[in-house]
Amino acid sequence: MKTITTIKNSKGKTPLTVITAYDALFASLFNGKIDIILVGDSLNMSFNAKPDTLSASMEIMLYHTKAVCAGACDTFIVCDMPFGTYTDEKIALHNASRVYSETNAHAVKIEGGKSREHIIKTLTQNSIAVMGHIGLMPQFVRSEGGYKVRGKSEEDILELIEDAKAVERAGAFSLVIEGVVASAAKRISESISIPTIGIGAGHDTDGQVLVWSDMLGFFKTFTPKFVKHYLNGAELIENAVENYIQEVQSRAFPADEHTYTK
Ligand code: KIV
Repeated sequence: MKTITTIKNSKGKTPLTVITAYDALFASLFNGKIDIILVGDSLNMSFNAKPDTLSASMEIMLYHTKAVCAGACDTFIVCDMPFGTYTDEKIALHNASRVYSETNAHAVKIEGGKSREHIIKTLTQNSIAVMGHIGLMPQFVRSEGGYKVRGKSEEDILELIEDAKAVERAGAFSLVIEGVVASAAKRISESISIPTIGIGAGHDTDGQVLVWSDMLGFFKTFTPKFVKHYLNGAELIENAVENYIQEVQSRAFPADEHTYTK
């Protein structure tokens, strides 16, 4: 099982494998195989059918993190801090402390670079491990007017490098880089000594993260460019359910082997 130390030492080595999970059942399938499970606030969209992540609450994140921890005892688990729960140092410390005292998660994740340096520093100085998150930050979707790929100009790349350095300086043990042009993500990765975990950021980061329902093909509404389907989950389930309906209606199910005869 990965620890903060082995994750930090993975910089420049075999890429870290990270996947999201929101419940004990799926977490148990990833347990002991994947390096890190992220209980992402993306659950608000993929589990709750909300248009963005903004309405995920601390209570929702704690509920799902407890479930994931119950299903994956041998995996490093990170709980995403939802929107509005780290607006200043005191609020952030209160909410992040709840993750440690009420769940078995190993770390929290915070969106934001330079502007969140003081928040991340407060948490790390109070013995809470923090994974940073820069680039396209879903919690900024309304204030920035949409999801925008970053790192397209030299000015933006330099700003992202400053963000990455601020997160590292604040004591974070790793950094998610989301939705950034691959060549820019490479430069960001090279500018810091903590491992970077990319999503839509090319293959030169120190690891990759995908949302489980995207990666396993359960989310049908749309497929972002950076997602690869490793399974056609939705199709498999729809076919199985159609088969079940047909067998129930024709009385082919239950067969003798599924029936108590005495
Ligand atoms: O909420 C989430 O799942 C995330 C990943 C996309 C990195 O933040």
